[in-house]
Formats: sequence, C-alpha cells, structure tokens
Amino acid sequence: MKKIIFALFVLLAPVQVYASSGCGQLEHCDAADIDLGNVESLQRGAKLFVNYCLSCHSASFMRYNRLGADLGINDDLLLENLMFVADFRKDPKGAPGKVGDLMKVAMDPEDAKGWFGTPAPDLSVIARSRGADWLYTYLRTFYPDPSRPFGVNNGAFKDVAMPHVLWELQGVTEPVFEQVMENGKPKVDDNGKPVMQLKEVRVVKAGSMTAPEYDNAMRDLVAYLVYMGEPAKLKRYSVGMWVLGYLVILFFFAYALKKEYWKDVH
Ligand code: HEC
Repeated sequence: MKKIIFALFVLLAPVQVYASSGCGQLEHCDAADIDLGNVESLQRGAKLFVNYCLSCHSASFMRYNRLGADLGINDDLLLENLMFVADFRKDPKGAPGKVGDLMKVAMDPEDAKGWFGTPAPDLSVIARSRGADWLYTYLRTFYPDPSRPFGVNNGAFKDVAMPHVLWELQGVTEPVFEQVMENGKPKVDDNGKPVMQLKEVRVVKAGSMTAPEYDNAMRDLVAYLVYMGEPAKLKRYSVGMWVLGYLVILFFFAYALKKEYWKDVH
C-alpha cells in the first residue's frame, strides 16, 4: 500500500508544481478553455496567426497544406487567405509560394535581434512549453509601461521584448497593482520602495473588438497554437478512445485464456 501511495505521489508531483507556480507577475493564469474539436475556431486562430504573428515569428515545423488538410481549407483558399507572408518571403516580385511550404518568417532573424534585442522565437511548439493558459493570459495582459522600450510590459512575461501587436483589436489597457503586505505592514524592498503585485490588466478603452470578443479571438489563437504544437492531437484523441476500448475487450479474453491455462495447475 505504501508503495502505491509513493508511486502516486511521484506521478502527481509535477502536476502540483505546475499548479502552484504563478503566471509571470500575476498570481495565476486565466483558464483558456479552448476547444480543439471546433474547426471554425481553429481556422479563425490560423488567420489571426498569419496576419499578426508570422511577420516576426516562424512556425517552421508546420506546412501550409497540413494546416489545410486538418482544418478543411482547400489549396485555393490557403493561397488566397493565409499565404501572403510566404509569397513575400519567396519572391518580392510576388511569385506565389507553394502550399507545401513551411511557415517561415518574413523577417530576417538578424534584423529581429537588432530591433528587439532578442530574436522572436519559433512558435511551432510554444504551446507545449508554455501551456494554453499561459498563452491566453500572455496575449491579454500587455499594458502600458513607459519604462520599457516599446512602452509596454506584460503580466505573464515581465519585461518582454515583444510589442503589443494586437492593441488595435484589444484597445487601451491599464494595470492594477496592489501593495504587498507583510505581517500587517506594507512590504518594502531594500531601497525602501513599496513592493507591488500586479493584480490584473483591464481594458479601459475598447479597440476594434469588445473585451469579450477579444478574449474569444485569443481563445481561437491559442487553440491554433496548441493544435500547431501537436497537429496529430486531433486524430490521437479519437484513435485513443478506440485503443482503450480495444484494450478493455482484450483484457476479458486474456483473462479467460489465463484461467483456462491455469485451471489444471491449481
Ligand atoms: C513585431 C514583431 C513581433 C510580432 C508581430 C509578434 N511577436 Fe511575439 N515576440 C516577439 C519578440 C521579439 C519576442 C521575444 C520576447 C522576449 O524574449 O523578451 C516575442 C515573444 C513571444 C512569446 C514568448 C515566447 C517565449 O519565450 O516563451 C510568445 C508566446 C509570442 N511572442 C507570441 C506571439 C503571437 C501569438 C503573436 C501574434 C499575435 C506575436 N507573438 C507577434 C516579436 C513579435
């Protein structure tokens, strides 16, 4: 029994660590609540991704036609709606890219380093390292901070070097800080400055989207990023169910067989 408890503990330990860690400057990340089974949401996410992210970030493990096949977008629509960035990269004169192209970036990584001080990382598998909730929080918590080079900071990623590229959609945000208390007194740092904790980032003036619309759009975008981190996931879920069912049935046969074999021994 002790062994079982120990094994369970070891198995669950990473979950506990994961659950208790904060979310950058925030105490916790917001739940993304994505629905990978919703193809329309994934399509909208893909569109946001190529329009707003692919200019700086690549997704070089992803081919356009895989995207088309998984999300039910035919080649013509792909070329028309999603592939302008690839066109630009391939040939400035506008020769069309091929649907089998990888989602490479339009920007030269060296330029990126010069402009932002750090290259924009490839986003193919970002959802696997960061998790959906973190991404959802990250994309919604850029806030004005005059001390930063681009004038923005981020709740989930302190002092991030990425500008708030979606501000026209989200609008103007405002951070809400709260004084951290210690033993009933305001906590101060070594320089005697009060220690503040970021509580939330709220929208004070809506952009082209209302706050709920923006949240939904980010849900789509995060769903797309999660899908991209593991395109086979959609399939795996359904295959997994069959496999489990098969194993359950197999168990009964195997058990019956075992009984049959051992019946003379016992
Ligand atoms: C103008 C260029 C630019 C655009 C456009 C852009 N990013 Fe970024 N992004 C960056 C840079 C530069 C960094 C590196 C920030 C750092 O390390 O401080 C970054 C970092 C990130 C990170 C954090 C990566 C990590 O280290 O965990 C994520 C996630 C991300 N971007 C997502 C997006 C998404 C989604 C979009 C589209 C909505 C987007 N970015 C659009 C420049 C850009």
